[in-house]
Amino acid sequence: KALKLIVTGGAGYIGSVCTARLIEAGHEVTVVDDLSTGHGDAVHPRARFIEGDAAETAETLLGEGFDGVLHFAAKSLVGESMSDPAKYWHGNVLTSIRLLDAMRKHGTPRLVFSSTAATYGEPKESPIAETAPTDPTNTYGASKLAIDHAITSYARAHGLAAVSLRYFNVAGAYGSYGERHTTETHLIPLVFQAATGERPHISIFGEDYPTDDGTAVRDYIHVVDLADAHLLALKHAAEGEHRIYNLGNGTGFSVRQVIDACREATGLDIPAEVAPRRAGDPAVLVAASDKAREELGWKPERTDLIGIARDAWEFAQARRAAKS
Ligand code: UFG
Repeated sequence: KALKLIVTGGAGYIGSVCTARLIEAGHEVTVVDDLSTGHGDAVHPRARFIEGDAAETAETLLGEGFDGVLHFAAKSLVGESMSDPAKYWHGNVLTSIRLLDAMRKHGTPRLVFSSTAATYGEPKESPIAETAPTDPTNTYGASKLAIDHAITSYARAHGLAAVSLRYFNVAGAYGSYGERHTTETHLIPLVFQAATGERPHISIFGEDYPTDDGTAVRDYIHVVDLADAHLLALKHAAEGEHRIYNLGNGTGFSVRQVIDACREATGLDIPAEVAPRRAGDPAVLVAASDKAREELGWKPERTDLIGIARDAWEFAQARRAAKS
């Protein structure tokens, strides 16, 4: 059934890919984005677009009657969350509570929320299941965890059908929708900057981790597989329940393996140099996503690391061509 949906943060990386997949599946999407980190030209041409704060806009917009909200809009820089925590408590937590209140007021039945692996903090088990203790090591993760708690209680008390999806390392692109942060901190886009000479080399943050090659291991998941989990979450959301699912491939790749995959995907000899560890980085973060597979019927299909890198590279090159 075609649903009438609001996508907050639909001008951002994951939100724009999700919007495209939702529209292609026949849903009607209104994107709300304040363009603080998103890009107006990343909004799908068949989406209705309202530029504004997610909560403030939703408070009136939801009165039109919607089947659900996919809430991507958020501040998501770990380092910034430590130096400017207010931005995360206001921008993430308060905005989300206001959105929940507006949904409650207008009787909006479904919510899909972008949570994160950062809610778990330093892992006590690997791979990480949803039953693992949550003990975030940064304000970004703490803000997302606080929202998860709020959603749980709203779902129980007010009958909301809610799903939180805990993303691990999202990568790749979907045609003209991809990762283009003004402040780039993510490994793969930075590796491409080293490939094109925009930066002299890629720094490998730490080579003394207790992993096979000494570099940190992460679970890279293709953004299209991730987006498709949101469509399944909408379908399986159940009244009065808040379900939480990890989204990852369940396979870890080291920083060196990622750089090698990017060399393969680009055909370029990308210079890399070892640098000190980045503060707060765990050695290994890998998802157990059996729950999403079993309950949502989700199955990631783009798990090949070189394939993920290739899609990201095609997008990065197209952006470069558009800029010059
Ligand atoms: N890395 C480098 N060099 C760089 C950039 C990153 O070696 O120039 C390393 C990092 O140390 C890390 C790995 O590459 O080991 C991946 O780093 P990213 O910054 O791409 O991603 P993170 O794993 O740090 O962060 C991701 C999400 C965050 C989330 C976090 C924990 O992007 O939003 O996972 O779930 F908080």
